[in-house]
Amino acid sequence: MKHFINLKDIPYKDLRKILVDAKNRKKLYNLNVDRNFPLEGKLLIQMFEKSSLRTRLSFYLAIRQLGGSTLTLRPDELHLSKGGESIQDTAKILSNFGNAFMLRTDSDEKLEEFKNYLSIPIINGLSPSSHPTQILSDIFTVEEIKKKSISSLNIAWVGDCNNVLNSLIAASIKFSFKLRIGCPLKYKPHKKIMKYINSNKNKIFVTHNSKEAVKEADVIFSDKVISMNDKVNKLKKLNQFKKFKINKRLMSFAKKDCIFLHCLPRGKEVDEKVFSSKNSKVWQQALNRVHVQKSILLYCLGKLR
Ligand code: CP
Ligand code: NVA
Repeated sequence: MKHFINLKDIPYKDLRKILVDAKNRKKLYNLNVDRNFPLEGKLLIQMFEKSSLRTRLSFYLAIRQLGGSTLTLRPDELHLSKGGESIQDTAKILSNFGNAFMLRTDSDEKLEEFKNYLSIPIINGLSPSSHPTQILSDIFTVEEIKKKSISSLNIAWVGDCNNVLNSLIAASIKFSFKLRIGCPLKYKPHKKIMKYINSNKNKIFVTHNSKEAVKEADVIFSDKVISMNDKVNKLKKLNQFKKFKINKRLMSFAKKDCIFLHCLPRGKEVDEKVFSSKNSKVWQQALNRVHVQKSILLYCLGKLR
């Protein structure tokens, strides 16, 4: 049994194996010749403490396509959320009834606590500090489009230093790719993350000039300036990111065939012209989550080929 909580804690060879499996499965699925249902009879229990569209749908499809089923719990309907039951007892029940637990949560500590009490795998479906299933899937999308290993590409992130970026930073170390981060000085990564970045200076670079961040980039990533977890003055923060908007002019400093990726939902950080351009691959990116999460589920349940 393997958990999927943070990319930094998963060996590179396992992450690569997941991507290889996803590539094979996607091919077979699209040819309509995938007659293999390795998770038949297995139940994925999902719980979302915060909004979700893509993660909810992609995990639903992922387990269904593998022959299993899913049940989505509403936190407000559980005793746990009202303080009427402990994580320990909730975890025991989840483990007795289900085969894997996917949690989107407001608390990294809660993920860890669940992990300690569950006897089934837990998958992090987004936490305040990371979004690992998103980023592993995004690496799949980058390699699918660029047809080469991400380690030979220049990756740029322009925007807020948030949970999605933290997972991209972890991926940069695991997959050994160059990552340039462009953000306002006031919103640079958290001290702990900066320490990690500074010990990997040859790979990761932080700049407060968006043009410098995207220079010669093969891929530009962005995300909303205001995340679900953000408790800030929204207008003030949005104003401070004005110079970091991704528009055609900024894209012109990157390579000509640079692609734009965004985990979605989007805000005002990207111009409509870029978002709907041929360089924007956001819909392919979103759909790939189904394929990669199928292989993540198989990895967690010890069934990866
Ligand atoms: N990108 C992503 O995780 O989307 P949802 O919040 O809709 O699940
Ligand atoms: N950073 C965003 C990602 C949404 C998928 C958030 O946490 O709200």
